[in-house]
Amino acid sequence: MNTVAILKAVQLLKEGKLVAIPTETVYGLAADASNPKAVEKIFKAKGRPSNHPLIVHIADSASLATWAIHIPNIAYQLAEAFWPGPLTMVLNKAPSVPSIVTGGQNTVAIRSPNHPITQQILKLFKGGLAAPSANRFGHISPTTAEHVKKDLGKQVDLIIDGGPCIIGVESTIVDLTSTPIRILRPGAISAKQISNVIHKPVIYHKTTQKTQAPRVSGSLSSHYAPNTPAIRIHTRALEKKIKETRNKGKTCAVLARKKISAVSHPQLIVMPKDPENYARILYQQLRFADLLKVDLIIVEDVPQTPKWRAVQDRLNRATKKT
Ligand code: TXA
Ligand code: MG
Repeated sequence: MNTVAILKAVQLLKEGKLVAIPTETVYGLAADASNPKAVEKIFKAKGRPSNHPLIVHIADSASLATWAIHIPNIAYQLAEAFWPGPLTMVLNKAPSVPSIVTGGQNTVAIRSPNHPITQQILKLFKGGLAAPSANRFGHISPTTAEHVKKDLGKQVDLIIDGGPCIIGVESTIVDLTSTPIRILRPGAISAKQISNVIHKPVIYHKTTQKTQAPRVSGSLSSHYAPNTPAIRIHTRALEKKIKETRNKGKTCAVLARKKISAVSHPQLIVMPKDPENYARILYQQLRFADLLKVDLIIVEDVPQTPKWRAVQDRLNRATKKT
C-alpha cells in the first residue's frame, strides 16, 4: 500500500472527514472518535439511527485507558490473547468519550483491528477511530473496497483498498461489564476461546435484533436487487424446494455446500464446507446472488454446531427460515 494514501487518510481523519478503512473482518467507515461532529457524519452517511453505538478502533491495549474506566484485568488478558484481532470488548466508558459514539450508553465498545494498513493509520493518527461497517444501514457488510464504493462512494472522502477481508464477518462482541460475561454478537472468536483465557463462564446472549439484518426489504440501493427474498432451508429439503420454485415458473440462485446437478452455473453458488472459508465469502456471495436478479435466493442451512455459530447468526439475519 502506498504511504501517500496512508498519510492522506490520517490527514483527512484529523480534519474530521470520513475514511473507509480495511479490517480483517469487514470494511469500516471511520471518523475521529474524539470529534462529535466527525462522528455525526458517519450516522448521516450510513442512514444509521443515532441510538446505535459505534465501535472505537485503537492501535493496541496501551490506549484502552483513554476510552474506558474500571478496566478489569481480563480485558488486558483478552487483548494479549486476541489483539489485534476480531474481538470487540464492551467496557465502562471514560467520561471523555463523546456520547454520540456510545449512543448515550455508559459503556463503550473497543477493538484493535488486525490489518497492516489500518494499524499504520491508527499508529500515525494516535487516537481512536469510531467505525461501523461501511455499508448503508441494514445492508450486507462490505468485504471489498468495491463494495464500499458501491454503497457509500459519494459519502466518503477516501476509500483505502486493503484487499478482500480475510475473516469476512464482523467481530465477536463480548460484554465485560455483565455477569456472567456475555457474547453480544458471535464472530470468529468463540465463547469457549474467551472462557479459556479468562477462566470464567461466558454465555451467548440471545438477540433478535432483526433491524440489523443485512437485507432490509425495500431499503437497498438500486445497484443490487433490493427485493430478492432469501430463504434458508435444510439440506434434505433443498432439491425439492428448487424444483418447486422452478415449477412455479420462478428463478432462483442457490448457495449450497455441495454440487446440485439440477442447478446450472451461475445460479449455483458452491460454498465452502468449513465455517472459516464459508464466512470469508458469505457477504460477497450474497451480493453476487442479488446481482443475478432472480426471484428467490435459496441458502442451504449450515450445521447447527458451535463452530458455525457466527455464520448461523448472519444467515438468520439475511434469510427467512422455511
Ligand atoms: O468487525 C467489526 O466489528 C466491524 C469492523 C469495521 O470493525 N464493525 C462493525 O461495526 O461491525 P457495526 O457498527 O456494524 O456494529 C457494531 C455493533 C453494533 O451491533 C452495536 O450495537 C454494538 O457494536 N455496540 C457498540 N457499542 C456498544 C456498547 N457500548 N454496548 C453494546 N453493544 C455495542
Ligand atoms: Mg454493521
